[in-house]
Amino acid sequence: MSEAFRIWHGSKGDSGDLARLHAAAFSDWWPEPAFASLLERDGVAVFLGARGAAVDAEGFILIRAVADEAEVLTFCVQLGARRAGLGRALLDTAEQFLRVSGIVKMFLEVSEGNVSAVPLYQRFGFLTVGRRAAYYQNGLEASDALVMKKMLSNVLLPPNTGMDYKGP
Ligand SMILES: CC(C)(COP(=O)(O)OP(=O)(O)OC[C@H]1O[C@@H](n2cnc3c(N)ncnc32)[C@H](O)[C@@H]1OP(=O)(O)O)[C@@H](O)C(=O)NCCC(=O)NCCS
Repeated sequence: MSEAFRIWHGSKGDSGDLARLHAAAFSDWWPEPAFASLLERDGVAVFLGARGAAVDAEGFILIRAVADEAEVLTFCVQLGARRAGLGRALLDTAEQFLRVSGIVKMFLEVSEGNVSAVPLYQRFGFLTVGRRAAYYQNGLEASDALVMKKMLSNVLLPPNTGMDYKGP
């Protein structure tokens, strides 16, 4: 079933929400001042999102653009809101924003073992262009980081062509 989302362009004032969502999604969480400091820098932008009925942000994507390239700094959706399409909606919004800003290459790093994010990025057309061996440590286990890249055109596409997304 399709679902509509609210997606909004955030700012430093959202740092508390970003820290809350990040801590719930990652073991190596970033504190609120880290988000506040990042969001003061040139080229850094954040989009937050929620399913239609939700009051508070349920996920976000933080990106940084330098010259004509951009990277995803971090990206998450809270547990109870996953698999509803919010991740796709956030990624799509960030991508469209970067396109209209003249960015032509988008990069990200993801653990090879990330069974939710890797398929999502592949569906979005990201290709693996590099690998950092044993980059992520989880206790005694290590996993490789995949470096993924997508070329962006400056042509605006309908949001998530072929998918159910109705926003932003
Ligand atoms: C990655 C993440 C942001 C995806 O958010 P989400 O809102 O659940 O994603 P969506 O509902 O938009 O899913 C889009 C597609 O991604 C893929 N996907 C998402 N979760 C998946 C899972 N658990 N298993 C397999 N595929 C998955 C599917 O292709 C899915 O499409 P489908 O539901 O039509 O099959 C979320 O799982 C998350 O926050 N994970 C923890 C933090 C993290 O790993 N962030 C990425 C760091 S690089």
